Amino acid sequence: MRRDPFYIKRYAKWNPKRLLPTLRGRLENRVSFYRFASYALPIKSVDALPVLNYEPDWANTALRRPDMQYLWWAWQICESEKIPGACIEVGCFRGVTTRFLAQTINPRPMFAVDPYRGYVGDERNYEFFCRNIQDLENICHLHLTSGDAFRAWRYGPVAMVFIDAVHDYSNTRFDIEAWGSLLSPRGIIAAHDTDNRCFAGTRRAVYEATRHGYDLLAHPSNLTFLRKW
Ligand SMILES: C[S@@+](CC[C@H](N)C(=O)[O-])C[C@H]1O[C@@H](n2cnc3c(N)ncnc32)[C@H](O)[C@@H]1O
Repeated sequence: MRRDPFYIKRYAKWNPKRLLPTLRGRLENRVSFYRFASYALPIKSVDALPVLNYEPDWANTALRRPDMQYLWWAWQICESEKIPGACIEVGCFRGVTTRFLAQTINPRPMFAVDPYRGYVGDERNYEFFCRNIQDLENICHLHLTSGDAFRAWRYGPVAMVFIDAVHDYSNTRFDIEAWGSLLSPRGIIAAHDTDNRCFAGTRRAVYEATRHGYDLLAHPSNLTFLRKW
């Protein structure tokens, strides 16, 4: 498995254990950017999506209505095929999608992973997140980075994981490998921002996963669903 890009931040900046993977990560992002078109996955849409029965707080998430509908649709597959386990969101921001998913998957447990430290995560967003989810009993917030939460995981199998944290190659690849290893057979990974050139590394990591253990389940614009073999 790829090394956790946050773990190496324990070393001093010029320590080769941090410096070399950092340089490698930058190079990989650069390559992802220039080869953006070659990592494109075909659009694969679904006709009959569930209709939302309430309006999420659109002002506080980058996800749009079809994204939420696709997440719900993917969860319906988990339910209908009895894929065991929880749902995880890696990178929760203000908790709008967390709330939506928790309500959708209730009574199964929803795990929300976010350290609220860097990369748009801060105290203000953490407070917002807490207010947003406080009345929902099936949410467990892991106030940790993705890698620390993965290493501390003791909550059993996972049916679906939504990856929406740090949008570069090494982090997305790590998130797919780490959380994917906990997925039940036929479990689902959803990844956001897969078709935005600013996040070319995310697209590349998701594309490569389709060559190593995952099938493309659905791919509306900027959101990709993979299914574990
Ligand atoms: C794009 S936002 C998430 C948006 C959210 N999923 C939504 O639907 O509204 C990215 C989040 O990733 C979090 N983040 C940053 N580093 C992280 C890490 N190492 N592990 C997990 N989350 C991280 C940030 O705190 C931020 O809240």
